[in-house]
Amino acid sequence: MGADISEKMLNAAKEKNSDPNITYIRMPMEDLNELEGEFDLVVSSLAIHYVEDYKGVLKEVNRLLKKGGEFIFSQEHPVNSCYGGGERWTKDENGTKIYSNLANYGIEGERESTWFVDNVKKYHRMFSTVINDLIDAGFVIEKLTEPLPTEELIKKYPDYYDLYHRPDFLLVKAKKI
Ligand SMILES: C[S@@+](CC[C@H](N)C(=O)[O-])C[C@H]1O[C@@H](n2cnc3c(N)ncnc32)[C@H](O)[C@@H]1O
Repeated sequence: MGADISEKMLNAAKEKNSDPNITYIRMPMEDLNELEGEFDLVVSSLAIHYVEDYKGVLKEVNRLLKKGGEFIFSQEHPVNSCYGGGERWTKDENGTKIYSNLANYGIEGERESTWFVDNVKKYHRMFSTVINDLIDAGFVIEKLTEPLPTEELIKKYPDYYDLYHRPDFLLVKAKKI
């Protein structure tokens, strides 16, 4: 089963993978309480930071998983999701980025950003909240990844060096206990 709130994204998913065993449904993850079943695996890619009630989603994902089932998700990294305006980088006199600016990391909640369109609402949570809420919902953390570019990639696309200053994404693998 694959779910998203956007019909356009569901159509893109169907185009990429139209296996008849996959059911695509248009549904916000805030409505997971409407689903029944026992799943081995729940995967969410770059969507959970758009949800205000993170704890509520974790509770429902945990309910829908078998014991020992896994929840694997990616989200905008907390050092990135805290951004709420202003200069993102400190640059030297040549315009080279030397620091990623960090502000209001400890103030959780709504942020507005531009992601293809203006005024996209997302929700910043501290790293500790992302992890502690998972633990409180009945998960153990199996692996965390903050993806970095390879040297080869940086040679081809030097802008990817930015990720050594500040990771864009956080990937989490958690298991229902
Ligand atoms: C950055 S895109 C990622 C798309 C896709 N999962 C991927 O990784 O390529 C974020 C996706 O989250 C979906 N989304 C945002 N809020 C959502 C919500 N409350 N429930 C379900 N999906 C949501 C959007 O429609 C969009 O498809």
